[in-house]
Amino acid sequence: KSPTTFMDSEKASAYTAHQIAELIRQKQKEGKPAVLGLATGNTPKLVYKELIRLHKEENLSFENVISFNLDEYYPIEKEHHLSYTYFMAEQLFNHVDIKKENIHIPHTDFSQGDIEKYCLSYEDKINSFGGLDLQLLGIGRNGHIGFNEPGSSFDSITRLIDLHPLTREDAAPEFGTLNEVPHQAISIGINTIMNAKKILLLALGERKSEIVNKALNGEVTTEIPASVLQTISHVEYILDKQAAQLIA
Ligand code: F6R
Repeated sequence: KSPTTFMDSEKASAYTAHQIAELIRQKQKEGKPAVLGLATGNTPKLVYKELIRLHKEENLSFENVISFNLDEYYPIEKEHHLSYTYFMAEQLFNHVDIKKENIHIPHTDFSQGDIEKYCLSYEDKINSFGGLDLQLLGIGRNGHIGFNEPGSSFDSITRLIDLHPLTREDAAPEFGTLNEVPHQAISIGINTIMNAKKILLLALGERKSEIVNKALNGEVTTEIPASVLQTISHVEYILDKQAAQLIA
């Protein structure tokens, strides 16, 4: 499937935000909740900025939004400034009218024994709302989506995973040193993602160009988790021209 490519990251992000806003408004008209799968990291920051602008300046309400985040480091305290709970509050939730009880982010501050049960309950919760209406994805430099690292089964659901060395390396500058980067994470699965009714994969910048080309045009393999998206039609790849530069 050919990507939708924009001149720069601002335009690609605005386009992505407007698709999300359109879904929220459509569901509002139908009197239904909009069930959104959300991502963290650098990639969606301008998307969230534009959604906040739409809320403040163009009456976009998040009252009917139910959100599920893709993943969270394990272990990490919710209050930690690099937790995804903290990230989402800062980048989006504190600035819009989403109801606190409609926000779902995997939490990882409990004893190891309960994790499996917790992961299944997160998956069940998503399903209890009829699944995700829209999943926003970034892509890791090793092709991960969520924290579904290379080797993840295409059938996988929410679970505890080991972070790939490259993922930890990419997170090291934020954490200060590699040692401080958690070794694990909770992530929704590839199957969970694929079941979303619509998937938007956003990739920005030159450093994503190699993996974007492999994921879109290379072999479909569990070694490049994002390549699984080639097998479905309800995905849209949204790129800036730097991320798209190696695509023939
Ligand atoms: C984030 C996530 C990850 C990131 C990916 C890209 O919730 O699940 O898959 O989308 O690691 O990260 P950035 O956007 O920081 O390049």
